[in-house]
Amino acid sequence: MQKVVTVTLNPCFDVTLAVDSLRPEAVARVAEERVQAAGKGVNVGKVLRSFKTPVLMAGFGGSDNLSRYLSLLGADAGELCFLPLPGSIRENLTVIAGRDTYKINRPGFRADRGAFGRLEKAVLEQVLPGDIVAVCGSLPMGIEPLWVADFLKALGESGCKTALDCDYMTKELLSLCRPWLMKPNLPELERLVGRRLSEDEAVRAAGRELCALGVGVVLASLGEKGILAITEAEDILVPAPHVEVESTVGAGDAALAGFLEAFLSGDSLRDCAEWAAACGSDTVTRPGTGLAAKSSAQRLLDQIRDNWRRVQD
Ligand SMILES: Nc1ncnc2c1ncn2[C@@H]1O[C@H](COP(=O)(O)OP(=O)(O)OP(=O)(O)O)[C@@H](O)[C@H]1O
Ligand SMILES: [Mg+2]
Repeated sequence: MQKVVTVTLNPCFDVTLAVDSLRPEAVARVAEERVQAAGKGVNVGKVLRSFKTPVLMAGFGGSDNLSRYLSLLGADAGELCFLPLPGSIRENLTVIAGRDTYKINRPGFRADRGAFGRLEKAVLEQVLPGDIVAVCGSLPMGIEPLWVADFLKALGESGCKTALDCDYMTKELLSLCRPWLMKPNLPELERLVGRRLSEDEAVRAAGRELCALGVGVVLASLGEKGILAITEAEDILVPAPHVEVESTVGAGDAALAGFLEAFLSGDSLRDCAEWAAACGSDTVTRPGTGLAAKSSAQRLLDQIRDNWRRVQD
């Protein structure tokens, strides 16, 4: 079976601290603390790994705390390829004080062209034609979007399928790298096409605009509205099932992982989009940074399909 390589250029530790209250001048004592190795590509990798899809997680790491990061990912993390750079992997802090949540994102390490070249080479050496390479999340300081576009182009030319979940691409760069798949959420898609998209039809038109530039599949994730998968030939809207929302963190990552898993199993565009929506919606039912689990996502998939059948009848 083909594998998925996730590339996380700017990983992070998700640190969640629960305190009773947070007041100026007062000491806040931490009642509960959780630390996880995270970053968008790593989240996609974790979901795929739990689904037993072959995955290699690649990216950069800061040498000061990379060993801790890798040990948090666990012995069953699948294959890992994180290139150490001087400095630390950043921490994204969530402080929960009663009903209030505070988010503090620390800056991470700095990378440069030389480091990016080493990572490109390491990934290109590991991939085979038909593998999927998913580049997800933000860029560390010192890395240019153009280098990422050139990398995706080279991967495409070597027979890989490339997937993108990031907010730094432009239409010019997309027509250069022509990714197989892109997963923007609504604000990301609006920024890309430079206009508000208030109706489904406007989202479809924006998706088709990106397809015309060379994007194979635009998987537009629309939060509680669901997912709209757009290709040059068709578009499929999958309404999200109604669920009790605990935390939406990672919903987009789980949706992308679901789509990739289904695609590698040979599923149709509709089946891939439905499984993506089920995995995204299952993630929002979990508190904090919890991601989708196969059995409960399967139940949501059944619900999605029942709803679809009802609409058809
Ligand atoms: N409130 C919700 N109720 C049901 N399903 C949801 C809800 N929010 C998200 N989802 C599901 O998760 C998918 C991805 O969510 P969303 O569009 O918010 O991604 P995102 O903004 O990229 O998330 P993130 O970047 O935080 O991982 C949606 O397409 C939908 O299927
Ligand atoms: Mg997202």
